[in-house]
Amino acid sequence: MRLWALLPLGLSVDLGHEAAARLDGCAQLLLETRGARNHEEELMSCRVPLLGSLHEDRVPGYLYNATEDCHFWASYAARDRHVEGSSVLDFSRLAAFRLSAPFEPPLRRNGTALYVGAHRLGEDGVEFQRRFGLQMHLFEPSPTYFKSLQRSLASWPGFTLHNYGLGSKTRVARLQLSGTASRVVDPEEVVDEAVSEAVSEAALAGGPEDTEAVWIRAAAEAIPEVLGSEEVELLHVNCEGCEYDVVQGLAQAQQLPRIAQIQVATHLLEFRGPSSDFQEAVALSLQVSTQRYCEMHRLLARTHRRVWGLPWVWERWTRK
Ligand SMILES: *[C@@H]1O[C@H](CO)[C@@H](O)[C@H](O)[C@H]1NC(C)=O
Ligand SMILES: *[C@@H]1O[C@H](CO)[C@@H](O)[C@H](O)[C@H]1NC(C)=O
Repeated sequence: MRLWALLPLGLSVDLGHEAAARLDGCAQLLLETRGARNHEEELMSCRVPLLGSLHEDRVPGYLYNATEDCHFWASYAARDRHVEGSSVLDFSRLAAFRLSAPFEPPLRRNGTALYVGAHRLGEDGVEFQRRFGLQMHLFEPSPTYFKSLQRSLASWPGFTLHNYGLGSKTRVARLQLSGTASRVVDPEEVVDEAVSEAVSEAALAGGPEDTEAVWIRAAAEAIPEVLGSEEVELLHVNCEGCEYDVVQGLAQAQQLPRIAQIQVATHLLEFRGPSSDFQEAVALSLQVSTQRYCEMHRLLARTHRRVWGLPWVWERWTRK
């Protein structure tokens, strides 16, 4: 028996009988219509088989193209009740791939990894360190979460902790805190030298109660400082909407080619602006997020290829 047959999960999404039986018909519809409006309803009923097989780019007769097709898939994959309620596309089940899917090429032991958005405990980083013996660099901008992170990991070998976020520009921002997630809101630009002063000033000045002043650093400045010229085995990003800025920053700094594997959780951005009602706000939010998501895909596709994943869940890109 081949080894992969023994692996419990993490190799491909199990479509189940019903979706598997519909896959060929749905793939044909996709190819014929290319998402044309007049077949919208039929195509929408194909979401479980098509998204389930898009996850590992196994839609029959089709290959994902980030430049051509990203906008279509990003809105097609919107996690509405239908998608969220399907056992095939269950969020936790898909998200589990980030830890369970074997890396190809394998992560080199003692290699360097960057984990952006480590939060309070840096759980994924702990898992990667334990399993692959990686030298983990954890980035967490929130001073509150960073204290927890220090308490649990500062004395462990294999971890280096950084109390800032990564992005395209160095700046002070406000981070909105909540139980399991935190997101950057209201970015204020500042000049580089004044940053730490600005962080303390912003902290003293206060803000809405559930927000904190945080320091975001341009990847172009921070990465060479942290890593010198080392290769990076893995970049792992889970930062509630800051992922687009992280990838953009790394691309601008020409740091993407040195990274072997990239894993990103993608999130909807909040639409902040006038809208007439909740539904319109949701639609605008999807539109804005899709735009950012697809810009990120075009940047990643230059140097990497998408191995698995779906919009608004997790995905992995491996260097070409
Ligand atoms: C994707 O489509 C673009 C534009 O049509 C084309 O130039 C590119 O080669 C395609 N990429 C792949 C990987 O097929
Ligand atoms: C692991 O990597 C670190 C630097 O990243 C290096 O200092 C150390 O010597 C390496 N250890 C082994 C066993 O290769």
